[in-house]
Parts: sequence; structure tokens; C-alpha cells
Amino acid sequence: MLHPRPVVLVCSVDSEGRPNVMACSWITPVSEEPPMIALSLWRRGYTHQLIEAKKEFTVNIPSADMVKAVVIAGSRSGRRTNKLVIAGLTTQPSKKVSVPIIEQCIGHLECRLVDFMKVGECNLYVGEVLAAYADEDLMTNGMWNERANVLLHVGDKIFTTPHVSFEVK
Ligand SMILES: Cc1cc2nc3c(=O)[nH]c(=O)nc-3n(C[C@H](O)[C@H](O)[C@H](O)COP(=O)(O)O)c2cc1C
Repeated sequence: MLHPRPVVLVCSVDSEGRPNVMACSWITPVSEEPPMIALSLWRRGYTHQLIEAKKEFTVNIPSADMVKAVVIAGSRSGRRTNKLVIAGLTTQPSKKVSVPIIEQCIGHLECRLVDFMKVGECNLYVGEVLAAYADEDLMTNGMWNERANVLLHVGDKIFTTPHVSFEVK
């Protein structure tokens, strides 16, 4: 019942600097001063190991036309597969962290791991956002505008996009 919600691509790197990408929709802002986010990651996945080791990760916002890449990133593990290649994704160096961003995405958050705790079958990770930027054409007053086709996850392999935005006076 807490969906639809935005789905992101979390990028992490292994000890040799090889990037991995996963789909994540259990992610939320939790603080503005300093800016922090929290995300819940399944302990059987690979990404949480990489984040705990490197203590850095990037959050990349895909647009709806990237849904196939999102499903690939979200349906197999990067332990033995290079999902970036399969999904046709490429990376670009970040500004503040050693983990790269995903070039095709429309927004990026560069994060430093602050803390994590066990919650059920997942670990909840809190990251400080060291840099945040997005395609300027798709933003108005720091918010996605109607040109940004943000991808929302409904559940399973069902997705939607935001329909109508309105301002309350
Ligand atoms: C739309 C979507 C959203 C997902 N959200 C999450 C999530 O919030 N947390 C999580 O641990 N896994 C989530 N998953 C599943 C992971 O992306 C999946 O287990 C992936 O294979 C993990 O990759 P890794 O082992 O390379 O880290 C999601 C999958 C999809 C398709």
C-alpha cells in the first residue's frame, strides 16, 4: 500500500573498482540538514556487501524509458554477472565519491554511508548526500517538472509514471 514509489538504480563498486547496479524502490529522504537518505537492502543481495566495504554509493534516477534496464538491474545478482553491460548502462565518474554514476539516468545522488541497522531480512542504510544534481531541463525550482518522466514502481514488475501534478495554495 506504500507504492507506487520512485525506483532508483543504486550503483556500488567492488574492491577492484568494478561497478554493480541494482534496482531499489525502498528508498526515502530522512534529513535535510545535513541531507540524508535511507534505503532498505536485502541481505542476500550483493549491493549491501559492496556498500558496507566501500562506504560509498550513488543513487541514480532512471526515466520511464529505462524500465527494461531497471528490470534487469532488479532481477539478477551482480555477483557473477555484469548487469551494466546486459542492461546497456554506462558509468561516469562522480564529483565527490569514488563510486561512479549511471550516465543514462536523469538525476544523481552521491552518498557516503553513515550507519546501518538490521531490519528483518534487510539492512537499512543511511547515507549522507554529498552531491545531488539532475538534468536542468527536467527540473523547475528544484522539483521534477512535467518533462521528467519519472518511473514509479507499483509492485512486482508493474510500473507507472506520475499523471497530474497540482499545487495547493
Ligand atoms: C522495481 C524493483 C525494485 C526493487 N527494490 C528493491 C529494494 O528496495 N531493496 C532490495 O533489496 N531489493 C530491491 N529489488 C530487488 C533487487 O534489485 C534484486 O534483488 C537485485 O538482483 C539485487 O542485485 P545485487 O545482488 O546485484 O545487489 C527491487 C527490484 C525491482 C525490479
